[in-house]
Amino acid sequence: MQIKTAEFVVSNQEVAKCPTNKLPEYAFIGRSNVGKSSLINMLTNQKNLAKTSGRPGKTQLINHFLINKEWFLVDLPGYGYARVSKAAKKTFQKFITAYFSERKQLVSAFVLVDIRHAPQTVDLAFMQWLGEHGIPFSIIFTKADKLRPKAIEDHIDKYKSILLETWEEFPNYFVTSSANYTGKDALLNYIDTINKDLIASANKSPLQ
Ligand code: GTP
Ligand code: MG
Repeated sequence: MQIKTAEFVVSNQEVAKCPTNKLPEYAFIGRSNVGKSSLINMLTNQKNLAKTSGRPGKTQLINHFLINKEWFLVDLPGYGYARVSKAAKKTFQKFITAYFSERKQLVSAFVLVDIRHAPQTVDLAFMQWLGEHGIPFSIIFTKADKLRPKAIEDHIDKYKSILLETWEEFPNYFVTSSANYTGKDALLNYIDTINKDLIASANKSPLQ
């Protein structure tokens, strides 16, 4: 899929104030600093569409970006960042949970994890929660430029073996780097396939 247009639409803390049209959307979630906002910029070929920072806790709102006027990418605050205030953390948790529980337009979540780290409790707990709520998700391993190919394989294998202690199957996953565009086509093609399936099933007569 080619991205022809990518526009910021709205930021807020309330699910009720998110765009009301029925376009499909895909949300990026994960620990602070994992690279959610950078990945949105990489996918859309823009430097500053989503605000990024070396300091964790940059994204503080639900941000909707309209892609090709057909679907949304959603950037969210990170979870699990110890240095934001307790009150801020509670607010984030509340609206992130509300977003995933209530947002009907959400087609799939992408849970971002840093490829260099072993599975973190907070990530596993979040994936568990998505599973229990029937919310489809894929895993995105980020910052692949920081490891050599062999180490990437080893880290994914390790991640798989730990996840398979509690999950029956390993989720669909992508390996990405916003620094060198790894995974861009695979991720965009995956989204494109789902979008096309959604259109095809919406157009299908129930009598066929
Ligand atoms: P919050 O909004 O704070 O939750 O963080 P985020 O997950 O949106 O992370 P962000 O995209 O702001 O990136 C955090 C830091 O990681 C920045 O310094 C980025 O430049 C860096 N970064 C993100 N993706 C990559 C990557 O693929 N490779 C490398 N080397 N650095 C990356
Ligand atoms: Mg961010």
